[in-house]
Amino acid sequence: MKQKEKARARAVKPEKQEDELLQLEKKYCSWGDTVHYAEKLNIFNRAEGMYLYDKQGTEFVDLQMWYSAVNFGYKNPRLNRALKKQIDTLPQLACQYLHEEKIRLAARLAQKIEVTFETKGRVHFNVGGASAVEDSLKVVRNHTGRNLVFAFMGGYHGRTLGASAITSSFRYREKFGHFSDRACFIPYPYCFRCPYDKRRDYCDLYCLRQFERLFETEYYSLINKKTNRCEFSAFYIEALQGTGGYVIPPLEYFSRLKELLDRYKILLVDDEIQMGFYRTGKFWAIEHFGVIPDIIVFGKALTNGLNPISGIWAKEELISPEVFPPGSTHSTFSSNPLGTAVGLETLKLIEESDFAEQVPKKGRYFIARLRELQKKYPEIGDVDGMGLALRVEICEKDGYTPNRALTDAITNIGLSGNLKSGGKKRGLILDVGGYYKNVFTLAPSLYIKEKEIDLAVDLFEEALRKGIALTK
Ligand SMILES: Cc1ncc(COP(=O)(O)O)c(C=O)c1O
Repeated sequence: MKQKEKARARAVKPEKQEDELLQLEKKYCSWGDTVHYAEKLNIFNRAEGMYLYDKQGTEFVDLQMWYSAVNFGYKNPRLNRALKKQIDTLPQLACQYLHEEKIRLAARLAQKIEVTFETKGRVHFNVGGASAVEDSLKVVRNHTGRNLVFAFMGGYHGRTLGASAITSSFRYREKFGHFSDRACFIPYPYCFRCPYDKRRDYCDLYCLRQFERLFETEYYSLINKKTNRCEFSAFYIEALQGTGGYVIPPLEYFSRLKELLDRYKILLVDDEIQMGFYRTGKFWAIEHFGVIPDIIVFGKALTNGLNPISGIWAKEELISPEVFPPGSTHSTFSSNPLGTAVGLETLKLIEESDFAEQVPKKGRYFIARLRELQKKYPEIGDVDGMGLALRVEICEKDGYTPNRALTDAITNIGLSGNLKSGGKKRGLILDVGGYYKNVFTLAPSLYIKEKEIDLAVDLFEEALRKGIALTK
């Protein structure tokens, strides 16, 4: 750029630059992603810890951290260093050749799982979450010879064709033709809004017993009672539903489900893409529930949102070279060295940290602060959480009827960057999930401090107050 042009570019006000960028975006970017869910579009240009900054320098407290992909804080110095070091040594390598970080990352993950679940297995890498889900579907089909799977209502497994077929929302499939292997969707134990109108204190997992009944006779369509063979090969679960609204099932639910699945040789595939890597206070969320999955799918926070790596771990008998030979699945960027280097450093960082103690402790503090708000505002129908996966369900004044208008208003007020709590102009980044799009799914940095939780809760209260006034 010539000197004069450079000087002119410098003189353009950030607001003007932003207007120009938004005009370009409007015209040239596909709107098929999720950007235009929001009323107000924000352009960010800096990130640090749990904060994002726009061009004007406004600080936004981020309570969703890239849907839990950045568990260890933006610009984490240690993980960034690992990436930079790899850029200067082996930045690229076709995934048909080996490099040390890939092997060590796979070994560390498999060894960790072996210790936790006393089960041997192997790891296969891919790039994004949905691609890893696709790989897991191949492993399931290859092992069982069956295509059909169960999945949960409210479940989310990604948006490739295969992953959409086992994700409950019809909206994601509606325009894309026939999905012959669409999952059979089973109600999730969402006790705040029990699909059977039961109450947890007396239900004895009624929802699970209803599922169990389907195996009693062939006339419920799942099973040949003469051979005990089920037409379904696997059950895809999220231990805590992510996009579904950070819903936490009763602690005994999955062990009872697993007993049933084992009886009919149905595999349990545990999607940890959003809840893995200490989001819930344990390495894998399923560890809270005392069951051993047959396959684990992971992604997101393994690389803290840097060069993506996803993958699956499967029990040895499902993925040994004899049954899943070379070429069974492949993607060009699947074990990219920038990602494997960061993933390996993430695992070392986890081993050297005390997230197992810190995350639940911080989660308890955060929930207690949110429950104080719940006492003041009847519009907060439910507050719950496991570790730092927290949910705030926004309702009408009756504390139950979902209030999407208020949820949207609060989100937009946060994004406007005009909140005042904490003594300066700030914004708040919130993610909305839930069956009725009325749940704030909070996934703060695992390094968040108590005083930052206080700031976040103050900002949330300010946005809530303004939202209530606006939607009255
Ligand atoms: C539980 C779960 N599975 C799968 C996916 C899909 O991952 P990706 O968006 O990386 O394809 C997501 C993404 O949010 C997720 O939360």
